[in-house]
Amino acid sequence: DLSAERRLRCMLEHLVPVEISRVNPDRSVCIFPTSEEYKDIVQVPGDFAKKALLSSRSQYEQLYNEAVTNPDGFWGRVAAGFFWKKLWDTSKPVCNYNFDADKGPIFVEWFKGGFTNVCYNALDRHVLAGHGHELCFLWEGNDPGQSAQLTYSDVLKKVCQVANFLKSKNVQKGDRVCIYMSMIPELPIAMLACARLGAIHSVVFGGFSSESLAGRILDCKAKVLLTCSAGRRGNKLLPLKELADRALEICLRDGNTRVETCLVYDNSFALPREKVPWVEGRDLWWQDNVSQFSVDCPVEWMAAEDPLFMLYTSGSTGKPKGLIHTVGGYMVYAGFTFKHVFDHHPGDIFWCTADCGWITGHTYLTYGPLFNRATCVMFEGVPTFPHAGRWWEIVDKFKVSILYAAPTAIRTLAAQGDEVVRKYSRKSLRLLGSVGEPISPKTWRWYYEVCGDSRCPIIDTWWQTETGACMISPLPGAWPMKPGCATLPFFGVQTLVLDQEGKELHGACEGYLSIKAPWPGIARTVYGDHSRYESTYFKTWKGLYATGDGCRRDADGYIWITGRVDDVLNVSGHRISTGEVEGALVSHPQCTEAAVVGYDHELKGQGIYAFVTLSQQAKPSDALKKELQDIVRKQIGSFASPEVIHWAVSLPRTRSGKIMRRILRKIAARQYTDIGDTSSLSDPSVVEALIKGR
Ligand code: WTA
Repeated sequence: DLSAERRLRCMLEHLVPVEISRVNPDRSVCIFPTSEEYKDIVQVPGDFAKKALLSSRSQYEQLYNEAVTNPDGFWGRVAAGFFWKKLWDTSKPVCNYNFDADKGPIFVEWFKGGFTNVCYNALDRHVLAGHGHELCFLWEGNDPGQSAQLTYSDVLKKVCQVANFLKSKNVQKGDRVCIYMSMIPELPIAMLACARLGAIHSVVFGGFSSESLAGRILDCKAKVLLTCSAGRRGNKLLPLKELADRALEICLRDGNTRVETCLVYDNSFALPREKVPWVEGRDLWWQDNVSQFSVDCPVEWMAAEDPLFMLYTSGSTGKPKGLIHTVGGYMVYAGFTFKHVFDHHPGDIFWCTADCGWITGHTYLTYGPLFNRATCVMFEGVPTFPHAGRWWEIVDKFKVSILYAAPTAIRTLAAQGDEVVRKYSRKSLRLLGSVGEPISPKTWRWYYEVCGDSRCPIIDTWWQTETGACMISPLPGAWPMKPGCATLPFFGVQTLVLDQEGKELHGACEGYLSIKAPWPGIARTVYGDHSRYESTYFKTWKGLYATGDGCRRDADGYIWITGRVDDVLNVSGHRISTGEVEGALVSHPQCTEAAVVGYDHELKGQGIYAFVTLSQQAKPSDALKKELQDIVRKQIGSFASPEVIHWAVSLPRTRSGKIMRRILRKIAARQYTDIGDTSSLSDPSVVEALIKGR
């Protein structure tokens, strides 16, 4: 059919490597630090270093070198801090891998021969050691006044009940379970229940549409769907069960009837039970069913390289990839990075504001903190509801000591002014973190000076869904910070900066960020498509992992992430594939072509800008613009809907027919004087027409 053909054309477009004149040629101009800012050093404040786990760069360098030269000793020691039912084969290297496609299939294995269970390490281990009464989750609902406290024992019991429920539905080791919930404690509980049984969880962010959810359920052939009646974020109601129903209908139409059970948590704060649509025989209420099961459930001992979970993420091409993380390596890396990057001490109250639907919520709201017996704050709502001081109110209420947030939220709060922040004490805070997108020196400064009263170090943590956990970040206390800079790689992470040809650059330089040799938390494959894993991450630079990000390394060896170098957008910290948005736009019958680029957006980091050409009969109108935005909302989710629709008569193409995105980015950024070489275009006049239409 015509729309399928157009979609295919769009995808093919993206298979062609992106043209880059230099790394990140036009992107994020406002984010790039000035030459002065590169030299701006902020010393570790006060006596933070005295109490920190690591207090000098030389200490770090010693450990870093050990991790590189003696991984068996270093990682063996770290892994020994966890419970293993059976130790890995210590007579063999702790890591076995191949990153070079010419030498055979790409693979990574850590702690081979070992058996453990992630849920046991997150919960049982602590409860058995007498810490069951300690607080695990401090939950704060969307509306002030809704809150809950769960101890480690409480969580373990609830996890066992859900695990027993899943078992009663014949969920076994290796089966996929899809989770589509709002930010309530039952979400991490569901994840841990899967981990207990060895079932592979696939959490789908509650902001995704029915169609996206259906695509993910079909791709991983999930047996069970765990959801909730609805969620609330600010004034917005997320009708999750209704969306889940539609997704399951799509799955049925596809001939896939595997989802036989849909377990629904009755989130009556958000929506009364009688308003929740219901399918008899398939749907079950969580509260009515799960509580009947025993609070004891034996764990399934898993091999170190058995899959733990999958998480879908967007790349430049095709549909989202279900990245697989495995038991042993992920556990060790998530737990160890949590401890050191956040300088976690007993008694800390840790708050990660990310949603469990993203990797940050997996690694630093669920697994990493729980391996360390941390107390975690979990918040269902948004920073500005019902007022702009909500975050700081929560910080004071729970005496949060470590806050980990995304620059997009920090920018939103900064826009509300300093007074709202200063109204609250925030005395409990001792460390601030940032993740998900570059943080500009200006936003960094505001976070540091206003939110942290120049008293709390900031860790700007760079990592990816693929890396499982932090890769580049200050270790607070160990070296001075620079506003807007992720600084140095974590123990054993061998970062390289490459030029266009893949040649390693030394000293101060700018180029493509890649990584030599695996770390324990690297994703092992793409679910059902190992060749896609190999071609996405290991074909660009021979023998190296390609991150998809550009970076600069300054004279102090500090790494500054400059953003994606492929066609992935980062909108409010959400990874969005331009190809997917284009695919959705061209499925509208009146849209013949679409090209999507990012532009600098004050609050979101990047905004989505779509150039659209229409069929002959169609006329540009506000109504059509809304239809196009809605079709993206429906097919992907609201967060992917383009802000700007630019009606184009045609798009700038090279003679070989490839769209020149470089030019489109310039037009979106209104940088008309700096358009660059247009001589290779098949029709250079197109550019002028586009500028006129801006
Ligand atoms: C970007 C989120 C600059 C980067 C954990 C990466 C960052 C993508 C930072 C991964 C940071 C993440 N500074 N950019 N501190 N952290 N990014 O998979 O472009 O959702 O490739 O993982 O976010 O996004 P993902």
